[in-house]
Amino acid sequence: MDKRKRGWIIAIDGPSGAGKSTIAKRLARRLNYLYIDTGAMYRAIGLKALRANPKLDDQAQIVSIACNSQIELKDTPEGCGVFLDGEEVTQTIRAERVSQAASIVSGIPEVRRVLVQAQQQMGANGAVVLEGRDIGTKVFPDAELKIFLDASERTRAQRRYEENLRKGVMLTLEETVAEINERDGRDSQRADSPLVQADDAVYLDTSGKTIDEVLQEILRLVEKLEKDEVRSADEM
Ligand code: DC
Repeated sequence: MDKRKRGWIIAIDGPSGAGKSTIAKRLARRLNYLYIDTGAMYRAIGLKALRANPKLDDQAQIVSIACNSQIELKDTPEGCGVFLDGEEVTQTIRAERVSQAASIVSGIPEVRRVLVQAQQQMGANGAVVLEGRDIGTKVFPDAELKIFLDASERTRAQRRYEENLRKGVMLTLEETVAEINERDGRDSQRADSPLVQADDAVYLDTSGKTIDEVLQEILRLVEKLEKDEVRSADEM
């Protein structure tokens, strides 16, 4: 590990519904690391763009929004709070319309450039778990640990369906499948930084596994990193 850093950089990428947020949050808490939800940043820009122009058909305007917005991720008593130009938008950005808007604005290269730069600054000191689609490939290609979390289409849709029910969003399971397929299709096919597994990422399928089981698997990988570092220090 670079001596200037306080801890590892851990990248967690994967499609929606794979369990990234739950796992990344728990992992960060367990390691006492900073947790950065990069999707929340695209969601905040998506929300502001929707408010300015619901059709989202003015790219120049969306880029200007990305360049002129202040997004903060802060610890609050309720968890990780998201603030857009000082306004708390933690819940608002979870709406279905905002999910699709986030996916659309994230396909604009200039928007990505602005947010990736901010994410690199936020994580530069290490001791951080970042969650997203391009963390291991683009934001921190030198991250010490990269995980690609995946799950079967059915599992991902079922999780999202239950999450929607808890939020009072009334979508059928079929509609939920269509919604996540649309978003994942767009996220995987865009030209700039599509959702792909980094060559050196560890692939973990979370279907049929409990949160704890997945967390334990990742903690074993972190332990291995620590052992490898001690061993290479001893050899010097
Ligand atoms: O992780 P999420 O569902 O909150 O992300 C919302 C959208 O943002 C997702 O559809 C794709 C985009 N995104 C991205 O392009 N790159 C990231 N690092 C994180 C999210």
